[in-house]
Amino acid sequence: MAKIFVARALPGNAIQRLREAGHEVTVHGGSVPPTREELVAGVAEADALLSLLTDRVDGELLDSAPQLKAVANFAVGCDNIDLAAAAERGIPVGVAAHVLTDATADLTMALLLAAARNIPEGERDAREGRWKTWEPEGWLGRELRGAKLLIIGRGRIGQAVADRAEPFGMQISFAGRDDDLHAALAEADIVSIHCPLNEQTRHLIDAAALAAMKPHALLINTTRGGVVDQAALIEALHAGTIGSAALDVTDPEPPPADDPIYDAPNCLIVPHIGSATATTRAAMGNCAADNLLAALAGDPMPTPAPPPPAA
Ligand code: GLV
Repeated sequence: MAKIFVARALPGNAIQRLREAGHEVTVHGGSVPPTREELVAGVAEADALLSLLTDRVDGELLDSAPQLKAVANFAVGCDNIDLAAAAERGIPVGVAAHVLTDATADLTMALLLAAARNIPEGERDAREGRWKTWEPEGWLGRELRGAKLLIIGRGRIGQAVADRAEPFGMQISFAGRDDDLHAALAEADIVSIHCPLNEQTRHLIDAAALAAMKPHALLINTTRGGVVDQAALIEALHAGTIGSAALDVTDPEPPPADDPIYDAPNCLIVPHIGSATATTRAAMGNCAADNLLAALAGDPMPTPAPPPPAA
């Protein structure tokens, strides 16, 4: 029997599965993440931690958990976890890989379509009395057939977005870490970011990258807010350096109520819902449970985090 600390209540039957496997599971209650103190207290005697992307798992936290043998993140991203610190302590880390590819790609298309066709503005105008008549020149959006879509990142989610965009007639290209990003940005009408956040990709889309983009370009971010220099993005939207942005992720999350991102023109923001379908969230829980059950049994995790960057 192992003690497992779960950092938030989860949909699906992951917690039940951990209990049915004979483990003692403590779930942090409430709708907000544990404070640092609550997290430290939660892992103090734990053999395993089921963390969320809102929980910072670093060397200090791991040192406060002398029994800890496994961490499973309820996310495909793991930028909230210091992978090197976990590896140094011999603690395997798992992620919810594979299971949220479709949901995230679907949300990317939802943002793309909403931004391209002015859905938020149209919805507000319809409700707020600005729909006076059928307007030949009103609410003109962007044609998708023939539009050049640049996907940053060559992973599963980027490919799933390409699979969805292709039937719309978009011209799709990819930029990976060895490509000339600014040259690719200069060609694109729509740019969608699908690389993980790490030291190489932090502020990958900075002022210079934004300046390389077309003035009508749409930037979509469904990965992590930190991949975009948000101050530079806000400036670029005000200046018309790019045309619009659609963000599922911001930096920080959520932005405080007075954050200038809310006043940036042509900027659609949703609250980090890429994986938010009931099916996907349940699958993510199962993925995390599978990782913990394997590690606690002394087996390799089925979906481990990528190896830590070389020191
Ligand atoms: C969500 O953003 C995830 O990484 O799973």
